[in-house]
Amino acid sequence: MKDLKLIAQQMTSKGKGILAADESTPTCSKRFEALGIKSTESARNEYRSTLLLTEEIEHYISGVILFEETFYQSIKGTNNPIPKYLKQKNILTGIKVDKGAKILANHNSEKITEGLDNLRDRLKIYKSNGADFAKWRAVITIGQDMPSEACLHANAHALARYASLCQENGLVPIVEPEVLMDGNHSIETCFQTTEKALQAVFYELNLLNVDLEAIVLKPNMVLPGNLSNESIDNHQIAEMTFQVLKKNVPEKVPGIAFLSGGQNSDEAAERLNLLNKLYIDKPWNLTFSYGRALQQDALFCFSKGDILGVKTALISRAKMNCLASLGQIIN
Ligand code: 13P
Repeated sequence: MKDLKLIAQQMTSKGKGILAADESTPTCSKRFEALGIKSTESARNEYRSTLLLTEEIEHYISGVILFEETFYQSIKGTNNPIPKYLKQKNILTGIKVDKGAKILANHNSEKITEGLDNLRDRLKIYKSNGADFAKWRAVITIGQDMPSEACLHANAHALARYASLCQENGLVPIVEPEVLMDGNHSIETCFQTTEKALQAVFYELNLLNVDLEAIVLKPNMVLPGNLSNESIDNHQIAEMTFQVLKKNVPEKVPGIAFLSGGQNSDEAAERLNLLNKLYIDKPWNLTFSYGRALQQDALFCFSKGDILGVKTALISRAKMNCLASLGQIIN
C-alpha cells in the first residue's frame, strides 16, 4: 500500500492537478456535435492527442484520466501508446472504470453507477497496461424528496466496493460522489446533501477497509442550483465548501481534487484559489480534477481547426488552476 499512498500524494501534490479527459463516447460526442465536430474515433484521438502533446503540460498536470477508448490508443500519428507517452512525461495515467450512471430501479429520477461486474479482472488488465489510478463517478440529484436514502446508500456502497478492488489491484481510486448543480435548490440544500453524501461514502469506505491514505476524493463544490435565484459570492462558496469538507473528510485523506461540474472556467479557478488562499491550515491538499473547466476553450479552438489554439488554451487554464491550487491567483 506504500506505493499507492505515494501515488495518491503525487496526484494531488502542491501546484499540480488532474486533467479529466475521460468523457464517455456519448458525452464526448454530444460536446463535439454541439460545436459542429464530427465525433469519430479518429477525431477523438486527434483532439485528445493534441491536448496531451501540449508543451510543458507536465509542469501543471500530475495525472490524466482517460476513457477506455483513449487508454488503448496511441498518440495520433505515432505508435506510442498513450499510457506509455504519459509515463515518459512523468504524468500519471488514470482510467474511468465505471460503466455510467443508470436509472436506480424504483427511484425514477435517481441514478446508480454500474460497473462492478468483472471489475477485478478489468482492473488487473488496466494495471498491466500502465494505469496508475482509476475513477468512478456517482451521481446524486437534488430535487423533491431527493436524494433518497436508497440512492445515497447504494452509490456509496458501489464506490466503496470499487475503491477496495482498486487498492487490491494496485490502483489508487478516485472516489467521486458528485452532487449535481442542476435544479433550483439553495446553497444550504447543496451543503446538507453534500454532507449526507460524504458521510455515506466514508461510512462505506471504512466498512470495506479501504485505506483512506491511498485514495483521492473528487467532490463537488458547495453551490446553489443553476436555476436558483440566490446570489452567492465566491467567498461564501469557498467557506461552505471548506466547512463541509472539514466536518466530513477524515484528515488521513491526502488530497481532494474538485470536479468543475458545469461552473464556468473562470469561476472554477477563482473558487479553488479562494479555498487555498483562505484556508492555509488544512489537512489535505486541495486541487482540481477538471474536465470542462480545463477543456472548454481548447475544444472551441479544435472546432475551428486551430490546433495551436487548443494547446494555448489548455496550458493557460492549467497554469491558472495550478496557481489556484496554491492560492496564488491575484485578482
Ligand atoms: P467536469 O469538471 O466537467 O465536471 O468533469 C469532471 C469529471 O471527471 C466528471 O466525472
